[in-house]
Amino acid sequence: MRDFHSITVTRNEQKELVIHNPTSYPFIGKGLQGAVFKLSDDSCVKIFFKREVAKQEKEAMLKGRGLPSMPKLFESGHNYIVMEYIDGPSLRDYLQDHGTITESITRQIVFMKREMKRLGFTNLDICVSRHIFVDNQQILKTVDHANVYKQKPIPIRLLNTLSELGLIDLFLQQVKDMDQEFYSEWKNYVHARRSQYED
Ligand SMILES: Nc1ncnc2c1ncn2[C@@H]1O[C@H](COP(=O)(O)OP(=O)(O)O)[C@@H](O)[C@H]1O
Ligand SMILES: [Mg+2]
Repeated sequence: MRDFHSITVTRNEQKELVIHNPTSYPFIGKGLQGAVFKLSDDSCVKIFFKREVAKQEKEAMLKGRGLPSMPKLFESGHNYIVMEYIDGPSLRDYLQDHGTITESITRQIVFMKREMKRLGFTNLDICVSRHIFVDNQQILKTVDHANVYKQKPIPIRLLNTLSELGLIDLFLQQVKDMDQEFYSEWKNYVHARRSQYED
């Protein structure tokens, strides 16, 4: 089998990624920056279009190393990172299937956001369908860490998804007992958005 270094990722005129994969490593997914391929049962490689984005993502993963939500980083090069493969549904699919949100999930979200702030990461927003997964031990895992320094203090997409799924009141009730500051920031956002729709 040819090794993953022979995979190339470029962009076309529409700025979509164009992937050339002469290996038999299965394609897992792609975004705007890179494409991910499964290397083994527990590892995958993300090949980046831009080297500087590979560097940003690697540095963020190193900074967050040891967080329960951070995939293990195994190896890196100029345009790639080899990391732990996360096996499980997206948080969105998981919550939709279960029809509720447990305290354990909420506690992990609060802990993750608190730890990100402590590390100086200013982007607390994250896509619940593409970037948070629930593994087979019910542990939340996050991917795509290149943009941790964007100024996004409110996890808007998480709160919007929870509203859509009808779980936001339960979630905020749980957060209230765990973190007063997040509770008031997130409640304010949800209430402001609600009154916008009611006007
Ligand atoms: N460690 C991983 N384990 C399993 N799937 C992953 C992993 N990293 C990324 N993916 C999948 O690949 C997709 C694209 O990766 P992502 O890091 O979001 O790329 P981009 O930076 O281009 O947006 C993700 O939405 C996710 O579905
Ligand atoms: Mg992405």
